[in-house]
Amino acid sequence: MNIYDDETFFSSYIRLREGANYNDLLETPAMLSLLGSVEGKDILDLGCGFGKASRALIDLGARKVMAIDSSKRMLEKARIEYGHERIEYMNLPLEELDRIEGSYDAAYSSLAFHYIEDLRKLLGDIGRLLKVGGMLLFSQEHPISTADYDGHWNEDSSEYAFSGYLKEGKRESRWFVDGVRTYHRTMGTIITTLSGCGFHADTVLEPAPSSKAIEALPRIRRELEKPSFLIVRAYRQG
Ligand SMILES: C[S@@+](CC[C@H](N)C(=O)[O-])C[C@H]1O[C@@H](n2cnc3c(N)ncnc32)[C@H](O)[C@@H]1O
Repeated sequence: MNIYDDETFFSSYIRLREGANYNDLLETPAMLSLLGSVEGKDILDLGCGFGKASRALIDLGARKVMAIDSSKRMLEKARIEYGHERIEYMNLPLEELDRIEGSYDAAYSSLAFHYIEDLRKLLGDIGRLLKVGGMLLFSQEHPISTADYDGHWNEDSSEYAFSGYLKEGKRESRWFVDGVRTYHRTMGTIITTLSGCGFHADTVLEPAPSSKAIEALPRIRRELEKPSFLIVRAYRQG
């Protein structure tokens, strides 16, 4: 089961997204800074969640958004709150992207890739769905975070403990509930896999909070010590 369909997890996650939060203050502005024009474009939103970005892409002028997620609860909320005639919300695991057809100008994916075990297959499937020159813009939890979720903040030294970076693979951590499963890959593996799957990455961002963001949510200043997000823009090669 997708953890986002767990009742406790889902309600906690939605509450987190409603107040001042890391995504709205840090991740989304960084993604939008790399998006460029989407006017008239057909776009995939992979791991679309409750549909906020899918709808934003339409509001920015996209022609059509195919929004994919494997959580029924997230999709239900998306259809109600961010539904639009030019968005198709589809319940499909990203592991099964090979089941769909199409030719898209861009793929957008916010904070879903670290839930996927086989990055090579995912990127191969995305490449097949993108036109040559099509853009893939994705964010994921930063490898410094996925390495070791137990890397806690030490209030006394104002430092993070950190370990486990070179040990790739499955992690299980507690986030609202026990047993949240993610996959850790090093920065080297991510960039090399992109290139092996026919993508050219032109930008890699590790966003730091602005002073306005720190004002809105003081604890976000810790991001200056350890970034939570990795953002990559890449293009499908011919
Ligand atoms: C952190 S949320 C981000 C949601 C949305 N992109 C946003 O930024 O608001 C991660 C999303 O990835 C989805 N997800 C996790 N594993 C997935 C999988 N294997 N296939 C499809 N979606 C998945 C979850 O259901 C959830 O909606």
